[in-house]
Amino acid sequence: MNNIEKNISVKQYNTFSINAYSNNYACFNSVEKLEELLNLYQQITNSQQNSFLILGGGSNLLFTSNFDGLMLKNEIKGIQVIKEDEHHIYIHAGAGENWHQFVLYCIEKGFAGVENLSLIPGNVGASPMQNIGAYGVEIKDVFHSLEAYHIKDKKLVTFTLNDCEFGYRESVFKRKLKGQFVITSVTYRLNKVPKFNTSYGAIEQELKKMGVTELSIKAISDAVINIRSSKLPDPKVIGNAGSFFKNPEISSSQFAVLSSQFPNIVVYHLPNGNVKLAAGWLIEQCGPENGVSWKGYRKGDAGCHEKQALVLLNYGNATGKEIFDLSEVILQSVKEKFGVVLEREVNIV
Ligand code: FAD
Ligand code: EPU
Repeated sequence: MNNIEKNISVKQYNTFSINAYSNNYACFNSVEKLEELLNLYQQITNSQQNSFLILGGGSNLLFTSNFDGLMLKNEIKGIQVIKEDEHHIYIHAGAGENWHQFVLYCIEKGFAGVENLSLIPGNVGASPMQNIGAYGVEIKDVFHSLEAYHIKDKKLVTFTLNDCEFGYRESVFKRKLKGQFVITSVTYRLNKVPKFNTSYGAIEQELKKMGVTELSIKAISDAVINIRSSKLPDPKVIGNAGSFFKNPEISSSQFAVLSSQFPNIVVYHLPNGNVKLAAGWLIEQCGPENGVSWKGYRKGDAGCHEKQALVLLNYGNATGKEIFDLSEVILQSVKEKFGVVLEREVNIV
């Protein structure tokens, strides 16, 4: 700790396994250590104009070039129940805790609300960054507050639910406060009595297959784990960052036109009247040439997953630029065929 390493490979720090380099790297396990590192770096570089990259598990990043700045790995640990009331448990977790381990801890203790978010890679600190979501639940549903360190002002700030401006794969930290804060801890408000959410996707079906007769948060977690494992590639086996693009939202009138042309289009109807399109379906319908789908496509070591077209892959030695270039041709082909512009979910470095 407290050493700034020079010119390190980031390969082991990103789930895409891209072999780029960062010219400075350090990790910290407390706010004090973070502060010391920032001061030290400022002295070394003698500049206020430094560039920082805060790293959790590296599961939502694509390095398209080497990183020129200080890469800081957040390893702040600790899980603590800080308060409870009649219906809720308030649980405080260090940003460097592994997300899935945190979910398993909550399930073991009987704290409900995060079971649908089982097996999402990465750390607690990144969970509010894009308001992680899966199987009908988003972090905003269980979020209470977070603490974040303001890099320039050198102070800790508390953010409440409203402050975070959560949206679909969005928060204030990806938008107007981008790059300004290091999230150091998150407090979640979990339920003492579970409100089971099994309506999304194949959960019901999976529970039946598992022979579950009595619903529990553990059973839902296991069902989600089974579904995810059947279609999402394990980054330990093959490099990826989950969904590369977001599912695009369009208006109901735009949808009316599209669905008359493409009656099989896969959609989710939103409460605001708009429609969310399954980007995986859109991508599957397009390809590098007529009659060939992107799904299962591979060029060199960059590819598109054969079970989920929304997931781009590094089969081994692809560069971040090759993955990015593939994402660009996919994006253009979807735009051409459907008139819909996909937005990348993965953070491009
Ligand atoms: P990183 O990749 O390390 O960082 C992501 C971004 O957050 C970067 O911009 C980074 O600078 C910033 N950041 C990280 N930590 C901090 C911090 N403490 N303070 C300030 N900024 C920070 N996501 C979903 O929402 N739902 C899914 O179902 C899902 N499934 C996935 C499946 C697979 C197989 C994979 C590989 C990824 C999946 N993801 C999913 C994406 C990813 O797991 C999440 O976005 C996760 O929250 C990223 O966490 P991380 O710690 O790895 O963040
Ligand atoms: N589909 C296809 N072809 C494909 C992929 C999907 O036709 O290649 C269609 C199918 O009809 C399928 C539907 O799209 O039923 C939805 O697919 P899936 O259930 O796999 O979910 P998704 O919409 O592709 C989203 C999230 C995932 C999250 C799952 C479950 C985004 C961008 N992705 O994927 O999150 O785990 O729902 O809730 O919203 C991530 O963000 O990294 C991520 C993996």
